[in-house]
Amino acid sequence: MRPHIVTSAVFSFTRLSTASAASIASTTRAATALKTLAATCPTQRLFTTSSSQCDLVKPQAKTITSSLNTSTPSAPYSTKMATPIKSESVLDLLKVRRTYYVLNKELAISKDRIQEIVKDSVLHVPSSFNSQSNRVLVVFGAEHDKLWEYASEILKTIVPADAWQHTADRMNMFKAAAGTVLFFEDQDVVNKMQAQYPLYSDKFPIWALQSDAMLQYVIWTALTAEGVGANLQHYNPLIDAKVASEWGIPDSWKLNAQLVFGGRTGDAGPKEFQPIEERFKVAGA
Ligand SMILES: Cc1cc2nc3c(=O)[nH]c(=O)nc-3n(C[C@H](O)[C@H](O)[C@H](O)COP(=O)(O)O)c2cc1C
Repeated sequence: MRPHIVTSAVFSFTRLSTASAASIASTTRAATALKTLAATCPTQRLFTTSSSQCDLVKPQAKTITSSLNTSTPSAPYSTKMATPIKSESVLDLLKVRRTYYVLNKELAISKDRIQEIVKDSVLHVPSSFNSQSNRVLVVFGAEHDKLWEYASEILKTIVPADAWQHTADRMNMFKAAAGTVLFFEDQDVVNKMQAQYPLYSDKFPIWALQSDAMLQYVIWTALTAEGVGANLQHYNPLIDAKVASEWGIPDSWKLNAQLVFGGRTGDAGPKEFQPIEERFKVAGA
């Protein structure tokens, strides 16, 4: 993931400009799937508590776990569910999660709701041996602006002058969004697990990253469900020291990714898919 630091900073506007008939067709398929889901939502109740909240991208939808108070510190481990979620519904939601680069500060849901989503996700995402090494910082408004100003200042010291305008535009694009979720893994937890289970010592850093990636994906997808756009960035380790000093991050928290979120200003760009036949095998079906 680290090579993205340079590509993100300098080249990644190219990400916005690829198109093909296949990708347009797949985008259309996802849109059709979304419409179908919205039409059937009253019975499926995808991540919502009332039929009026069934649209996947409608703001203020409440999660089933939230409505059951399973996310409160006093009862974080309940697995009770009012209505089973159909796997088709989950898959439809996965299909509508996309990268939205150009975002604004108009959030479809409240800052409280965003914190609730992030907290629920941190609590419930799996981790190896239930080690729970994931940590997050959410910055909104002026604090979010500060983050991207700092990133810009730091990048200016390393990006070649002739590439700077491109990078500056990108930093301003992120700053124009409403907030950022910063993802960390607590190395104290990783080290403790390594000491406790020497047999898997080399695996714990990898598993911590994998769990963190799951967390990023869950939050990204949940924000999508609430009508919030997001894109994933990797300006670590360049910004690590500044982030740690500015927001009192413990030394043991290692920054891994930044999810920029905000109001959508347009559609996600087209997306190409490699043929599934080249990527999937089955046996014994
Ligand atoms: C592990 C991972 C790292 C990524 N890093 C970056 C990044 O540093 N900068 C960026 O602009 N996008 C980044 N992305 C976004 C991908 O480019 C994007 O998800 C991919 O092109 C598919 O598009 P979609 O998100 O619209 O489905 C990353 C995505 C993943 C899963």
